[in-house]
Amino acid sequence: MPQDVLPENKIPVIRVPAMPSDLNQGGTVFGGWIMSQVDIAGSIPAAERAGGSIVTRAVDSFEFKKPVFAGDLLSCYAEVVKVGRTSITVHVEVYAQHMVKGVVTTMAVTEASLVYVAIDERGKPRAVPKV
Ligand SMILES: CC(C)(COP(=O)(O)OP(=O)(O)OC[C@H]1O[C@@H](n2cnc3c(N)ncnc32)[C@H](O)[C@@H]1OP(=O)(O)O)[C@@H](O)C(=O)NCCC(=O)NCCS
Repeated sequence: MPQDVLPENKIPVIRVPAMPSDLNQGGTVFGGWIMSQVDIAGSIPAAERAGGSIVTRAVDSFEFKKPVFAGDLLSCYAEVVKVGRTSITVHVEVYAQHMVKGVVTTMAVTEASLVYVAIDERGKPRAVPKV
C-alpha cells in the first residue's frame, strides 16, 4: 500500500468528493463506489493509449484498510504499466483527503492493477497501436 501522502509530481486523473449517497449502511463510503472510481480512472489512460474503445477485462484485487467518509476528497492516480498485443494494464492508486477545520489528513485508501482490452466496432479485441 502506498504512503499516506499524495504522490509528488503526479496529476490525478480523477478528483471527486464522496457524497452522502455513496455511503453504506455503516455510514462510511461503499467499497463498490470506490471500485467504480478506480475503473473509471484506469480507463482514462487506457483509452488514450488504445486510441479508442476499451473494456475492462480483469482486476487483480482490492483491499480497503481505512474507511472513507462523506465529504472526503478522493484522488485517483493512474499509470499505464504494461502494453500487450490487445491489452493495456493500468495501475491505479487512490487517496482520500479528510478536511476538518482547515486541517487536511491524507490516507492511502487502495490500489489495483486493471487490464483493459482494446476493442473494435464488433466488440472484438483489436491490436493496440504502436507508439
Ligand atoms: C474483453 C474481451 C473483448 C476479450 O475477448 P477475449 O476473446 O477474451 O480475448 P483474449 O482472450 O484474446 O484476451 C485479450 C487480451 O486480454 C488478456 N487477458 C485476458 N484475460 C486476462 C486476465 N484474466 N488477466 C490479464 N489479462 C487477461 C489476454 O492476455 C489478451 O492480451 P494480449 O492481446 O495483450 O496478449 C471479452 O472478454 C469481453 O467482451 N469481455 C467483457 C468485457 C466487459 O464487458 N467488461 C465490463 C464492462 S466494461
